[in-house]
Amino acid sequence: MLNYRAPHQAVHFLSENFSRRPEEVQVLDVACGSGLVARLMAELGFKHFVGVDGSQGMLDQATKTGLYKELKLALLGTEPLPAQPGVFDLVMIVGALRDGFVPVSVVRELCLAAAPGGYVCMSRNGLESESGNQYKVSLEAELQLMEEEGLWSHVTTKEIDQYMIDVYNCDHVQKDKYVHGTMYLYRKSLL
Ligand SMILES: C[S@@+](CC[C@H](N)C(=O)[O-])C[C@H]1O[C@@H](n2cnc3c(N)ncnc32)[C@H](O)[C@@H]1O
Repeated sequence: MLNYRAPHQAVHFLSENFSRRPEEVQVLDVACGSGLVARLMAELGFKHFVGVDGSQGMLDQATKTGLYKELKLALLGTEPLPAQPGVFDLVMIVGALRDGFVPVSVVRELCLAAAPGGYVCMSRNGLESESGNQYKVSLEAELQLMEEEGLWSHVTTKEIDQYMIDVYNCDHVQKDKYVHGTMYLYRKSLL
């Protein structure tokens, strides 16, 4: 109903910017939900997934995909990310970096989970509200600060249209009103 395109767009963005052999890549899918991101990545040849989500119901759905080696329950921001540090070649987070979901502070934990030289791919929607804008400002300040601290380097950012229908601002007449999204790719430092 929402024409939720974020997983497709994020995986397409990844495929344009990530050239490692997919079958060898250890993926941490944070806020994995029902497993849509892993399903699309599996079509590209990715095989090794660990998933984390704050909802047991979502993890039950993700289990049904049969794609995850492990699925862990954690409410991020209040509980630490349950992932071994420095292990994952690729950390994905799609559709959960927003106010009321995963707080900006968790981005450091995503970086910690990545292996040296590994990648962190983040996709968020741009709700046109004060809190949505504030979240984006805080997120981008944190991303930049982490780069200045030498934790990772920026690879690329892409702004996208048609992330999903803006259910908060769309009325029956204007069903084609979409919110924008932004995708970020960072590479963790080798040290
Ligand atoms: C819009 S869904 C995205 C799911 C999946 N990544 C996708 O793109 O299909 C957002 C997910 O984030 C999870 N989530 C929201 N806040 C969370 C938190 N603080 N900790 C862990 N998971 C959270 C929700 O349970 C939900 O599964």
